[in-house]
Amino acid sequence: TSTGNVDFYELTIRKATARILPGIATEVLTYDGHFPGPVIHARSGRRVLVRHRNGLDMPVSVHLHGASVPPSSDGNPMDVFGPGTSRTYVYTNRQPHASLWFHDHSHHMEAEHVYRGLSGTYLLTDALEQRLPLPKGRYDVPITIRDARFDEHGQLAYTMADRNRTTILANGAPTPSFEVAARKYRLRLLNGSNLRLFALNLSDGTPLIQIASDGGLLERPVAVPVLTLSPGERADVVVDFSRHPVGTRLVLTNSGPGRPEQVGKVLRFDVVRTADDPSRVPEVLRTLPPASALPAAAVTRHIELSMDEDGRPDPRGFINGQLYDPDRVDTTVAFGSSEIWNVTNTNKRVAHNFHLHLVQFRVLERGGRPAGPTEAGLKDTVRVMPGETVRLHVTFDGFRGEYVYHCHMLDHSAMGMMATFRVR
Ligand code: C2O
Ligand code: CU
Ligand code: CU
Repeated sequence: TSTGNVDFYELTIRKATARILPGIATEVLTYDGHFPGPVIHARSGRRVLVRHRNGLDMPVSVHLHGASVPPSSDGNPMDVFGPGTSRTYVYTNRQPHASLWFHDHSHHMEAEHVYRGLSGTYLLTDALEQRLPLPKGRYDVPITIRDARFDEHGQLAYTMADRNRTTILANGAPTPSFEVAARKYRLRLLNGSNLRLFALNLSDGTPLIQIASDGGLLERPVAVPVLTLSPGERADVVVDFSRHPVGTRLVLTNSGPGRPEQVGKVLRFDVVRTADDPSRVPEVLRTLPPASALPAAAVTRHIELSMDEDGRPDPRGFINGQLYDPDRVDTTVAFGSSEIWNVTNTNKRVAHNFHLHLVQFRVLERGGRPAGPTEAGLKDTVRVMPGETVRLHVTFDGFRGEYVYHCHMLDHSAMGMMATFRVR
């Protein structure tokens, strides 16, 4: 419902059953019965209130990933609400357009809760984006891609750091097919997995045209032959199906790391009809300050991500050698200041990524080289491969208070790979 300058949503967090595998009812956790999760539409400058009722038998918190929100609405791991209670989150949307998402963040349970279904899409738009002639409405489609493992009864099986999640789900279904018109579509891709990296490409060999990343539009569209997405990262791509006659089937394939049975078809597009197409992808989408013109950094910090690699049954994850302790503030930053964060993955085999709440940052360097064009926009999550260092420019504006940063491979954050920063 809407009144004046506020949109109001009410969602009940509850168990439900979903038809994921043929003929089987699978128990999932949902926002209001939706699997995959619901889609919330928001506009910059217009407030959204979401009232969540906790219909589960355990505490939950809800985090809007990528959003600039006050600490009281950020869904901090310790800021949970219990069974039978409600919580209203206030999203001011004082930031530009972006494809955001929301998910559970309750301490130590975030990984299992998200895995079982507690995630949803939050599309924030603004006047700049609306003015562009990009595909809109039914030709603008959010697609969440994730992996899962089903037990012999067709139920979701969760164990931490499970490497046998061999089923890939796109919008909640294994290898679904979507009927499309022979025209351009904007696909808003989110990697909603707990651990898996995707490397996505189209079966006709044409590149994906990436137009946006975590924090909204890139400056220019980029032709990407293989799109890499780590958990929590988003990429909006435009695919032009008019290159193909009606009747064509096109497959989005994952060639990412994993065993042979874990790579392959993600979803299929069936071109079923012709259509007019007034949309186009402008050569300039927005302007962002070049890396050389970003505010000078007052502080340089070093962040080390590491976890036990020796296959012990209860692996732990560390940031700068420490496990997450919600009672400890690990980093204090000055409100309004800019900093350089060098984030290193010290593991030899295990990939990580890095996510900061509250802010969108810039990726200056990856492995000592300037970041590539797909990472040149605003980001809130960035992959960090074994042995690699990424150099980030972060400006801490928006709100003061305590927030977290963590590896967004949620199995890892639940193992301790998370820390608290305070904006003072
Ligand atoms: Cu998407 Cu702290 O999370
Ligand atoms: Cu977040
Ligand atoms: Cu990790």
